[in-house]
Amino acid sequence: MARDGAHVIVVGNEKGGSGKSTTAFHLAVYLLYAGHRVATIDVDSRQQTLTHYLRNRRAHGRETGRRLPNPLHFHLPAAWGDSVKENQQAEFDVFTRAIGEVEDSVDFLVIDTPGFDTNLTRLAHSLADTLLTPVNDSLIDLNVLARIDPETGLPVETSHYARLVQRARSERMAIDGASIDWVLVRNRISMLASRNARQVQSTLEGIATRFGCRMADGIAERVIFRSLFPSGTTVFDPLDEEGEAATVSHVSARQEYRNLVAALNLPLRGIEPMRLSA
Ligand SMILES: Nc1ncnc2c1ncn2[C@@H]1O[C@H](COP(=O)(O)OP(=O)(O)O)[C@@H](O)[C@H]1O
Ligand SMILES: [Mg+2]
Repeated sequence: MARDGAHVIVVGNEKGGSGKSTTAFHLAVYLLYAGHRVATIDVDSRQQTLTHYLRNRRAHGRETGRRLPNPLHFHLPAAWGDSVKENQQAEFDVFTRAIGEVEDSVDFLVIDTPGFDTNLTRLAHSLADTLLTPVNDSLIDLNVLARIDPETGLPVETSHYARLVQRARSERMAIDGASIDWVLVRNRISMLASRNARQVQSTLEGIATRFGCRMADGIAERVIFRSLFPSGTTVFDPLDEEGEAATVSHVSARQEYRNLVAALNLPLRGIEPMRLSA
């Protein structure tokens, strides 16, 4: 499935709760405000967090009259038939139709993937121009990428997910000679400096060197992310007019996500941006 249209960003990590859907949603909304045409695909057929996030956003927009930009969104069929094979075929059909529909008509396609391995998860990874892997700030979560030698803190064995990415990279190279820019980002970083945090950072650096990926500055743990989900809003949306004040947490989170987008080196062409709240 060779493409030369939309830049595809896949957000993936086999660990649930690492912040994939939150990050996919923030990236999509950021890119919309920057004036780009954006589509999103939710490949997580079980949780469908990105789909729920966007539904909440549309409902919130209707209820409050706020004009919030939305990506063109696709999700997999929720109806489960008796045959696993048929279900997989139905999901595959929706996915490939979605790709065909948007590849030449949007600038960015953001794909959110589940925390488990399916054929579709693999296919999505092999389409990535940019693969973003959020990692929770815990040594336990690093095991999803590599088994770590407890003595040296160095990666000694490639894990299932890292192998999946390696295969996707080879497939991508064979299909159109392109490489996947794989970026790791620490998420939910504790505000308190700790020994654990330093270990996570140095271990991740070891993993990045071993797997040929990059590390971006991380996103801190902030309560604000919990309150954004029900209204389907992001830290990039203007605050509502009812005198809602930007908290320090809001402003800092926005800056961290901006830094993350900058670190991704996306092909952001010179487009007049829509109003981004200060
Ligand atoms: N930086 C953050 N600070 C605090 N909570 C966060 C942060 N990022 C994500 N979360 C929360 O963590 C949970 C899992 O996030 P989610 O994006 O659904 O992860 P995944 O898609 O990897 O399963 C959600 O409750 C979300 O609100
Ligand atoms: Mg998710």
